[in-house]
Amino acid sequence: MHKLEIRDLHVKIEDKEILKGINLTINSGETHALMGPNGNGKSTLLMAIMGHPKYEVTQGDILIDGTSILDLAVDERSKAGLFLAMQNPQTIPGVSNLEFLKYTVNAHSEQKQKLKDIFGSIKQQAQDLDFDLNMLKRFVNDGFSGGEKKKNEILQLKLLNPYFALIDEIDSGLDVDALDVVSNNLNINPNQQGKIIVSHYDRFFKKVIPTHAHVIIDGKIVTSGGAEIVDKINRAGYNWVKELS
Ligand SMILES: Nc1ncnc2c1ncn2[C@@H]1O[C@H](COP(=O)(O)OP(=O)(O)OP(=O)(O)O)[C@@H](O)[C@H]1O
Ligand SMILES: [Mg+2]
Repeated sequence: MHKLEIRDLHVKIEDKEILKGINLTINSGETHALMGPNGNGKSTLLMAIMGHPKYEVTQGDILIDGTSILDLAVDERSKAGLFLAMQNPQTIPGVSNLEFLKYTVNAHSEQKQKLKDIFGSIKQQAQDLDFDLNMLKRFVNDGFSGGEKKKNEILQLKLLNPYFALIDEIDSGLDVDALDVVSNNLNINPNQQGKIIVSHYDRFFKKVIPTHAHVIIDGKIVTSGGAEIVDKINRAGYNWVKELS
């Protein structure tokens, strides 16, 4: 069992306070849906948890199993068990996707493996995602379609198998079949991964069913509960939540 705790988190970007006191605890095996209107701080929260240097924590703490990770750099947070599947994945021209995946996996293990030793596992995980193997030979995300970039994020997530997966709008840009494949892969959960999943759509949360749901308005969680919150937002929008804030 592992625990990710966010305590009274305040985050600034370029002198503007975006998060204004977030409290959230995620245990192994839990799936937390994070919803909220555009521009209210969902991606900011995930970026701050992962340690993006542009997101300045001005107050509060982030802890894994009771130990603060605020002083850790992004790669150290990754080794501590966090992974962020980004809303807008970066392109890395000049770096082959396969090499990138190999270095990523090797950075997380004591024993450094050669590509030939690791290729079987990468290939298997890619096939499970219905991810065209030609994508492995290309530069990271370079010229990938929107959906291909999202699948590439999930491929990294599967290979690293973190304690906690932070998943930002992975469903946007996926066609209906890809949405099914990605959801099925997220539902395979061998080590009781904890998840925070940002999405605007209940059709995704019908496939990956949350144990908890939260709504962020203006940098604060204004309501929390179970999957019924996702249903209510789908039916009634955000006006009722805004009245709570
Ligand atoms: N680098 C930046 N510089 C200035 N403002 C920023 C920066 N990044 C984010 N913001 C602002 O922070 C606020 C929160 O943005 P964030 O990306 O967290 O929203 P979000 O809830 O994820 O929205 P969406 O649903 O559209 O993805 C927005 O007003 C945004 O413009
Ligand atoms: Mg966002």
